[in-house]
Amino acid sequence: MCGIIGVTGAGDALDILLDGLERLEYRGYDSAGIALIDSSDIYRVRVADGTHSVSILREQTKDAPPGCVTGIGHTRWATHGQPNELNAHPHLDCAGDIALIHNGIIENYAELAAEMVASGHTLASHTDTEVLPHLIEECLLTSDGLVEAVRKALEKVRGAFAIGVVSLAEPDLIVAARRISPLIVGTAGNASFLASDIPALLERTRDLVVVEDDQIVELRPGSVKITDLEGNPVTPRPLVVEWDVEAAQKDGYDDFMTKEMNEQPRVIADTMRGRVESSGRIFLDQLDLSREELASITKVSIVACGSSYHAGLVAKYAFERWARLPVDVDIASEFRYRDPVLDSNTLVIGVSQSGETVDSLQAMRQAKQSNARVVVVSNVVDSSMAREADGVLYTRAGPEIGVAATKTVLAQIIALELLALRMAQVRGTLAEGAVAEVVSELWSLEGTVQEALARDEDVAAVARELVDARDFFFLGRHAGFPTALEGALKLKEISYLHAEGYPAGELKHGPLAVIEPGCVVVAVATGGEMKEKILSNVSEVKARGATVVLVAEDGDTQAASLADYLLMVPRTSTLLSPVKDIVPLQQLAYHLARNRGLDVDRPRNLAKTVTVE
Ligand code: G6P
Repeated sequence: MCGIIGVTGAGDALDILLDGLERLEYRGYDSAGIALIDSSDIYRVRVADGTHSVSILREQTKDAPPGCVTGIGHTRWATHGQPNELNAHPHLDCAGDIALIHNGIIENYAELAAEMVASGHTLASHTDTEVLPHLIEECLLTSDGLVEAVRKALEKVRGAFAIGVVSLAEPDLIVAARRISPLIVGTAGNASFLASDIPALLERTRDLVVVEDDQIVELRPGSVKITDLEGNPVTPRPLVVEWDVEAAQKDGYDDFMTKEMNEQPRVIADTMRGRVESSGRIFLDQLDLSREELASITKVSIVACGSSYHAGLVAKYAFERWARLPVDVDIASEFRYRDPVLDSNTLVIGVSQSGETVDSLQAMRQAKQSNARVVVVSNVVDSSMAREADGVLYTRAGPEIGVAATKTVLAQIIALELLALRMAQVRGTLAEGAVAEVVSELWSLEGTVQEALARDEDVAAVARELVDARDFFFLGRHAGFPTALEGALKLKEISYLHAEGYPAGELKHGPLAVIEPGCVVVAVATGGEMKEKILSNVSEVKARGATVVLVAEDGDTQAASLADYLLMVPRTSTLLSPVKDIVPLQQLAYHLARNRGLDVDRPRNLAKTVTVE
């Protein structure tokens, strides 16, 4: 997830780009860059300095050529290639005559890059993006101008993109295009603008339109022309913006947590994008373990903290069922001090959104010393854990600003399940047909989660009914157990209410003594395999006067008859059920916290990244 901006026709293009990038930093901040069309050259500056990138970029462009009217800018959250200056956008073609910014993921970049190299192009970076200016350079040889070249180039591209392209040969023109990744354009007087989203442009214009998938935009001073990929004109969809900049950064939502929960469908698709080949082979590009190395693994050990630990617990069921591998899942601060038995045939998977959590990092280092193969599932490219691991599987959730993890947990589950499927393929433990079935369900989760999110008002109504409750038990069995743990953690983190997650079958070994009228029991009663058993556990708490909230699947009348309140979710298979069952539990925590007037993005006593023991 990156931020892009472009402007042509304004006297102060550089200021507009820099101000816009500052407004876009919440979309990514590992590096930033701009390119301006000067009279005879493309002036480009790129900076990779984390959260300081845009301010340093402002410093470093103090001597930019004055009076440039056309330029593009980018703030990056890396998905391919380290967050360094070389990989920062804009990227250039060989001649340095074309500059391009991109938000999205080019799925077939490896094959396009090979084609470009074979045609004599030199690629300087390790990004998926850089192939695009070279492809456009190549297409220009047989095109009448930049617009036609971009159109031809995009015919060859698979994946998600919002791009802005400038060329020295047509100095007033920016060509933009979109597939999946967001893009808006607008005008004000003689200036025309593009951006990935609204905050970048709000101070310049509110005369905006949304570019739809597979549309190409020609921005010239004061004019914006939108066509489809074949060149037919399209009627633009105007965007009515009533937000201020802060509301726009939150996409109009009240807080980042809601925004990030609502990004979950996109995040699921992005985490899968380009990783499942049409042949059905799972291709985990940066994992860096050969088929032979994967085949030699006899045990998996997952190590993590907080919500990442819960994602690891969910994955255990998939590794065991699909790949028939024994799996341990440990809290990193425990793993470090318990002398675990590891060897070169153990695959240790560190799961960490930030990739910086000190307990997870130390656990990973310890595993390396035992000669285990260590891979990391991280949301931050080039984080400490990513740098030190033998291989990495990046979740492509974009920056998560709310302290309580939401979208990154779902992305971790998807990434881990892809790895479990890959292991199953290598070990031959799952028939190709069965792999294809799981892959197809994984793709469908984008829609399933969208549907679950759309039921927010039902969850809000339940939260209103529970406004006086102070004690919550979250119960689940099988894959529903980590879901229950995550539901309890979310509630604790943001509402400060007492909440415990428990395996429902353990209830009678202690917690049942605590259950009395006034306790709320939230039970995850999905996942066909264990449903009967969990419903009988629910009867036990109901008999003792607890208020029962059930997460149940559509059409489940049996669950409905037992519950005081229902949180209905769409149906899925058991192993993938946590992906959608977590959603109403996030929403429940959210509404209970908001009803108590709390700041859901910045809960007391907690930090997003914990770098102390
Ligand atoms: C902190 C955050 C949690 C997160 C945990 C692990 O406690 O508040 O949301 O789950 O750290 O973080 P990691 O970056 O390693 O996933």
